[in-house]
Amino acid sequence: MSKKGISISVIKRLPRYYRFVGELLKQGTVRISSGELAEKMSLTASQIRQDLNCFGGFGQQGYGYNLQELHEQIGKILGVDQSYKAVLIGAGNLGRAIATHMNFKEYGCDLVGIFDSDPAKAGSVVAGLKVMPVSETERFFKAEKPQIAILCIPKTAAQELADKLVSLGITAFWNFSHYDIKITHKDVAVENVHLGDSIMTLAYALTHADDDKAEE
Ligand code: NAI
Repeated sequence: MSKKGISISVIKRLPRYYRFVGELLKQGTVRISSGELAEKMSLTASQIRQDLNCFGGFGQQGYGYNLQELHEQIGKILGVDQSYKAVLIGAGNLGRAIATHMNFKEYGCDLVGIFDSDPAKAGSVVAGLKVMPVSETERFFKAEKPQIAILCIPKTAAQELADKLVSLGITAFWNFSHYDIKITHKDVAVENVHLGDSIMTLAYALTHADDDKAEE
């Protein structure tokens, strides 16, 4: 459960609602019934009504959902209307790809700084920002007060760094390092990203594709 008593699984579904509703708006759709939205999202209408009712419900009987309003409201709930300051730690292959290809502003974040411990990378420009040496961290954090750290560093470096970043005021980690930050810092928000988990789900689907046939 979240602090407001909303189940984490509902909150985890919100970005998908936001994305679908955004796409429908781009296509020029103005309103939609819960049934139609359910069909597009491979959910049930009652699931959608239940989820959105957690936040007060946005639909009107007989009218459905006003998509512009729904998009704005879900965006507000998610906080994508904010401008949270984010720093990237680790300007290697992954870090550079993320910094370059993510439109952070669309997601309520503003990438304000990039750090790397490799002196050869300091001064190079990634996504319009000069990569800073880690010796700049404290001065920069005092001035900019970023809230989010994006970790694209090796697992072995993550614990020491996470401790330091929390002491400097970081309250949220987008963590690609495969290190479990929650173990030592229970009060910070952590989103662990493991691309491997996603492909393993595919491997499972392929491995078990014939299970139903075998049972018949
Ligand atoms: P990379 O070696 O190209 O980049 C790592 C960068 O981190 C280097 O530039 C290095 O100088 C820097 N670094 C190391 N320790 C640091 C510290 N204490 N402070 C600041 N910078 C530091 O590696 P790549 O390919 O970018 O991958 C980064 C990490 O992400 C790896 O640990 C890899 O296993 C992981 N990874 C995670 C994925 C996921 O789904 N979570 C997917 C792919 C990679």
